[in-house]
Amino acid sequence: MNRIVEKTWFSDKVAKIIVEAPRVARSRKPGHFVIIRVDDKGERIPLTIAGADIEKGTITLVVQAMGVSSTKLCKMNAGDQILDLVGPLGKATHIDKVGTVLACGGGVGVAPMLPIVEGFKKAGNRVVSVLAARSKDLIILEDEIRQWSDDVIIMTDDGSYGRKGVVTVGAEEVIQREKIDECIAIGPAIMMKFTSLLTKKYNIPTQASLNAIMVDGTGMCGACRVSVGGQTKFTCIDGPEFDAHQIDFDELMLRLGGYRDEEKAAFERYV
Ligand code: NAD
Ligand code: FES
Repeated sequence: MNRIVEKTWFSDKVAKIIVEAPRVARSRKPGHFVIIRVDDKGERIPLTIAGADIEKGTITLVVQAMGVSSTKLCKMNAGDQILDLVGPLGKATHIDKVGTVLACGGGVGVAPMLPIVEGFKKAGNRVVSVLAARSKDLIILEDEIRQWSDDVIIMTDDGSYGRKGVVTVGAEEVIQREKIDECIAIGPAIMMKFTSLLTKKYNIPTQASLNAIMVDGTGMCGACRVSVGGQTKFTCIDGPEFDAHQIDFDELMLRLGGYRDEEKAAFERYV
């Protein structure tokens, strides 16, 4: 069991949860994730670790209420116990001093991007971050991203904060104004697909962090398989980050929607 120490809402569907997990806090690196089961009927939810406090023995997770289990998790409060939490899982982000890094985060994807931005900054890179969301109230972790970025561009679909437009509009302006050596894209699959198409046009090496459906998280079940460069890879052990220009995003999106009817029916039974 892992105790929730703190829960705060970023918006009506997105919560920040700080959980006791001392061993995970000590060993996690940027890019690592955990898998959580809220209760014994719950599905397994993979969540990239957004931060950790080694002294307090806690990790920070950002959860969007989408289906039954994530909604249950978002409804939990400080003092509640999560049934189980496994991690850190996956490969850590490959962080080097490359020059200038463009970090593109869409919606909730900004949470897993935060430790990566911090990692690239600490490695001596110039970091330009583009934070994008549908509207102002859905922009998360702006102050924390600013702390580790040389420049931050805010984009909202409706223009309610920052500039009006999707993440790729802001990203292309940065690419046209300065030399970018590497890009990282995290957010919904469609956003990563279009960010990848943009950076491919400019020949910029790009990593995308995939949010595939997961079950065991150890490479045994095959639920998280994705095609990268024509090869089958498992997101849980080979990823979650891959060369974005090699990812078959259309297949990923098809697989992400594979249980939509069951998820909808389960949610209707739950509410
Ligand atoms: P969202 O749908 O609100 O999109 C966020 C931003 O992505 C938009 O504001 C826009 O700037 C950009 N975007 C969307 N479609 C685009 C397009 N066609 N072209 C260019 N940019 C586009 O995002 P949300 O509701 O916060 O995110 C939900 C999804 O993100 C879920 O599917 C969740 O699984 C996924 N997610 C992924 C990760 C990851 O590690 N990749 C982490 C957390 C959440
Ligand atoms: Fe089962 Fe990756 S979650 S192989």
